[in-house]
Amino acid sequence: MESSDALVFFGATGNLAHKKIFPALAALVSRGKLNIPIIAVSRSGDTHEQFLERIRASLDDHGGFDEKVFTQLTALVRQVDGDYADIATFRKLKKELKGARRPIHYLAIPPSLFETVIDSLAEVGCAENARVIVEKPFGRDLASARELNAALHKAFDESSVFRIDHYLGKEAILGLSYFRFANTFLEPIWNRLYVKSVQITMAENFGVEGRGAFYEEVGALRDVVQNHMLQVLAMVAMEPPSGRGTEGLRDEKVKVLRAMPPICPTDVVRGQYEGYRNEPGVKPESTTETFVALKAQIDTWRWSGVPFYIRAGKGLATTATEVFVELQNPPTGVQLGQTGPMSTNSLLFKLSPDVSISLAANVKAPGEEMAGRTVELAFNDLPSADGLDPYERLLGDAIDGDTTLFTREDFVDEAWKVVANVLGDATAVHPYFRDGWGPEAADRLIGEGGWHNPNGHNTKTQEG
Ligand code: BG6
Repeated sequence: MESSDALVFFGATGNLAHKKIFPALAALVSRGKLNIPIIAVSRSGDTHEQFLERIRASLDDHGGFDEKVFTQLTALVRQVDGDYADIATFRKLKKELKGARRPIHYLAIPPSLFETVIDSLAEVGCAENARVIVEKPFGRDLASARELNAALHKAFDESSVFRIDHYLGKEAILGLSYFRFANTFLEPIWNRLYVKSVQITMAENFGVEGRGAFYEEVGALRDVVQNHMLQVLAMVAMEPPSGRGTEGLRDEKVKVLRAMPPICPTDVVRGQYEGYRNEPGVKPESTTETFVALKAQIDTWRWSGVPFYIRAGKGLATTATEVFVELQNPPTGVQLGQTGPMSTNSLLFKLSPDVSISLAANVKAPGEEMAGRTVELAFNDLPSADGLDPYERLLGDAIDGDTTLFTREDFVDEAWKVVANVLGDATAVHPYFRDGWGPEAADRLIGEGGWHNPNGHNTKTQEG
């Protein structure tokens, strides 16, 4: 695979650039992994000095500023200022590329601008032999995702398209798939005979944090379920990738989604935290969900009949993402002298902010009685996600031309099909109090056993 020899980056003065992209580029420079021209395109009218100040501020706020890395990074940066609707901007870009043979264009801009930018790149000859990186949201339903794909494919073939889902670059998510396929003991139990249910929770203790106008158009389902949560589900449920080449992993993940019937409205509970309607940019009568809980099925030999629950929300009791895999109940404890049911065994993958994999098992509590207690066997326990930042990993991979950790077109399509019947106002939205676990209706969805709340938070759900 030929690495790219220039990085063109649209949206260089945007929020994402400030929070994620410059820090990731600085980290790549500091590890000696980035030494190609970076052409930053924006329409800010900044002088070069003002632009360098932006980079400094970004690193100060999000990267940990290092003078040497800053000097190395800024030595790579060239600036193109101009309107995206003006072809002259792209002619300037072409000149700045100075004959780069395999540029990569990063569209860190709203999707509504994709088509204009792509057409102009093609018109001036900058799309030839080039790659393109695009950000989520990737459409707002199947039809709009297909339109975006068609726009991209006018100038780039699928192997040159890198759709970012930063969850795929997370150390803990890679750790999850590694654990699954690096341990023989897991395979015999990883199916409908031994697994009772799977719960995937992404809880956030904060609200929309100034992104009200964006969030209002999106809601929890489109913001994190159609992409991040379904990616995690696919990692948990997929078959081991086979074959050579980079497509094995992506093939297996898509097969999982293809085996999922579209989620039914009766299996979805939407919620909205109290006070959301007063957030800047949010309509006073908004029905956008800030919380969603749902039950999904995977109709395969391995998973048929095992419910996969997904729950994601803002304004909840804590911030944590985890996967909880509950095994079937031990059949009986009678012969051990135990009265009442035994606790079930379970595996817990903490994905964020803490990272760990642990197994809950029953052991005899010391003493006269044959009574048990549950202990946790931790396989790895890191206080926080170590390793590369997701953006650092993903941008490095994209520059190297490795598509493994990027979302393929068919995954996007299938993911939209899975949520197609429950988008928007297909179901009612229930109010809920902040700092709890969402509306009470979510408890009814899961039934016996209840939700596994991260960090030992066993607060009940509440109706706001
Ligand atoms: C983003 C969503 O994709 O992921 C945000 O737009 C969400 O709403 C964020 O807060 C969570 O990412 P992380 O890495 O902080 O878990």
